[in-house]
Amino acid sequence: MNFELTEVQKQVQAMAREFAEQDLLPTILERDASGEFPLELFRKFGKTGIYGLPYPKELGGMGGSYLAYALAVEEVSKVDGAFGISFSVDTSLYGGSIVNSSAPDEIKKKFLEPITHGEKIGSFGLTEHTAGSDAAGQTTVAVKDGDSYVINGSKCFNTNGPVADYTVVYCLTDPALGTKGMAAFVVEKGTPGFVVGNVEDKMGIRSAQVSDMHLNDVRVPAENMIAKPGEGFKLAMKTLDGGRIGVAAQGLGIAKGAFEVARKYMMERQQFGKPICKQQYLAFKMAELQTKIEAAELLLFKAAVAKEEGKPYSVPAAMAKLTCTNVAMEVATEAVQMLGGNGYMKGYHVERMLRDAKITQIYEGTNEIQKLVISGPIFR
Ligand code: CAA
Repeated sequence: MNFELTEVQKQVQAMAREFAEQDLLPTILERDASGEFPLELFRKFGKTGIYGLPYPKELGGMGGSYLAYALAVEEVSKVDGAFGISFSVDTSLYGGSIVNSSAPDEIKKKFLEPITHGEKIGSFGLTEHTAGSDAAGQTTVAVKDGDSYVINGSKCFNTNGPVADYTVVYCLTDPALGTKGMAAFVVEKGTPGFVVGNVEDKMGIRSAQVSDMHLNDVRVPAENMIAKPGEGFKLAMKTLDGGRIGVAAQGLGIAKGAFEVARKYMMERQQFGKPICKQQYLAFKMAELQTKIEAAELLLFKAAVAKEEGKPYSVPAAMAKLTCTNVAMEVATEAVQMLGGNGYMKGYHVERMLRDAKITQIYEGTNEIQKLVISGPIFR
């Protein structure tokens, strides 16, 4: 067992850190206030090919490791959790759906390559208003008509939806079969009948774009079907396992970001004639948080390495997601408290990190769903 990152992983980490500090940090408060998606910054970061980092070179990816991808999500999320999830959905949920699918390689390449450098953006259409945790309860339907399929239905909580050029839409080709009749299609922006619905006004991750997506008689060529009828549900589940590693990395990044703000503040802030870090109660609290952050990090590393080594990773990914996101919420909450009145104010960032942390416990499967995934094998 080796706990050292490789040189390449360290380089990716350093590159993402530099981008976060130089490009994301200066405008983070404006984005949080306006809720605007940073399209130019998203494209700039993408120029490195980072959105295809863990995917095979033959498909347009960089052939890098999943751990390196997780490290990059973590670094940008230390500064901007909204950017972290936009990146993570693009790579792990959209890109993952394509790469994990049984589509021919030329179709995979066609729909993966353009997102790898940020020229195009991807999103993942699984959730519906009546099918959230119960992902099997879909009502969106695709009917074959000649050489194409006609899709009708609505998706919700679609991260990147309003800015996406490609959306993987999970839907039923035979509703009577339930999950056994689920397929998946890539639907391109601008396809007649495919429209962005309500764009959500959110508590946190303000500049990530999340919306309803409506499909009214949307006709897509049969070649856009990346999961055949019966393969869709398993593709969604397998892809979500990888997505949960991304959310774990986002949560860990938020936790480390909030920890660092608190650490610096405690060394500078004088009360009762000394810096507040000299108060043993606060120093011990930081020791506990640091320990929890490192424990969460080990679970994240374990899940990412299991995935890249081709070992089972559903449970490790759920454990990493559960732990990293709970730690994010705990550290951000404590950081606000440690900064006192200042922590409640926007300029110190931790109130935003607290708002951003909350969603990490909810999306890509609530943390109760993670416990469902983890508890299953315990009693099998
Ligand atoms: N990988 C591959 N196959 C899997 C799998 C996995 N991780 N999990 C289940 N399957 C397979 C099973 O083996 C089973 O196959 P067979 O029928 O051949 O035996 C089949 O799928 C059905 O399995 P289950 O009976 O266990 O499925 P279920 O209906 O009970 O659901 C669940 C299980 C874990 C609750 C699942 O529905 C789930 O994960 N729900 C949460 C969904 C979720 O995370 N939604 C968030 C969407 S994305 C989002 O948040 C928005 C965003 O943009 C960020």
